[in-house]
Amino acid sequence: MQTINQLDALRQHISALRDAKGRVALVPTMGALHDGHMMLVKEARRHADAVVVSIFVNPTQFGPNEDLDAYPRTMARDAELLRAAGVDILWAPHAHIVYPPGFATHVHVDGPSNAYCGAARPGHFDGVALVVAKLFNQVQPDVALFGEKDFQQLAVIRQMARDLDFALEILGVPIVRDADGLALSSRNTYLTVEERAAALALPYALGQAAAQIRAGDDVGQTLAKASADILAAGFARVDYFALADAATLEELHHFDGRPARLLVAAKMGNTRLIDNVAI
Ligand code: PAJ
Repeated sequence: MQTINQLDALRQHISALRDAKGRVALVPTMGALHDGHMMLVKEARRHADAVVVSIFVNPTQFGPNEDLDAYPRTMARDAELLRAAGVDILWAPHAHIVYPPGFATHVHVDGPSNAYCGAARPGHFDGVALVVAKLFNQVQPDVALFGEKDFQQLAVIRQMARDLDFALEILGVPIVRDADGLALSSRNTYLTVEERAAALALPYALGQAAAQIRAGDDVGQTLAKASADILAAGFARVDYFALADAATLEELHHFDGRPARLLVAAKMGNTRLIDNVAI
């Protein structure tokens, strides 16, 4: 595995890799890797001949009062995991390479970015779309993989790729969970032992609400009860608990049988957790 942090070197190595091996996959990450990220790498190897993983804690997707400085950074360990997983290139640019002085371009995706995390974290998806557009141009992959853990992010990236004619395939990968059901996240390391235990209420409430909605229960009442349940279990705040069209993310007030997703974001202590499940 080559670890690269300059753009010209990246381009040279990718061109050589493409000639030697063929189809190139990109797995964008912010590092602090866990089994969820490693599942994307594994899937990438199934869908391409060479795998590029990026690690970049992207400042433009963090709000002014969010956890950019505290975000876990474990580069040496991450590189070891990626090497062992057979990754070809680790693209780990410094912020001044991605955003040189005088950088002035923004990417804003309407539609799927507006509600849910887009409403709770203004500007977040602009930063995600900007960095992912740049990563697509830097690496020029044939296929890029994203986790369904960030279901809205995946929808925003699909929309952007369609709208801006990025010539690549985008694959979504199912959520990887701990044995007890909590979705893996780099931010789970912020949780105390007590918070980690209480956080289980989130996947539990999601599962219960999903079963009730599938069974035909009233969506509004079910989601109100699910929100109340996680607050009672120790969550400090519920940003949203919503049923959405799985493709457009339009909010649904009734389940009509079309592919839908139940989406939740809630705060446990100072840690914001998100999760979702298919209906
Ligand atoms: P990050 O949170 O590091 O996640 C990188 C990728 O791993 C995302 O596609 C995310 O959905 C996926 N992922 C995280 N936890 C997962 C889990 N438990 N199961 C399956 N997939 C999981 O998402 C980002 O970084 C950034 O916004 C990024 C796209 C890299 C742009 O900066």
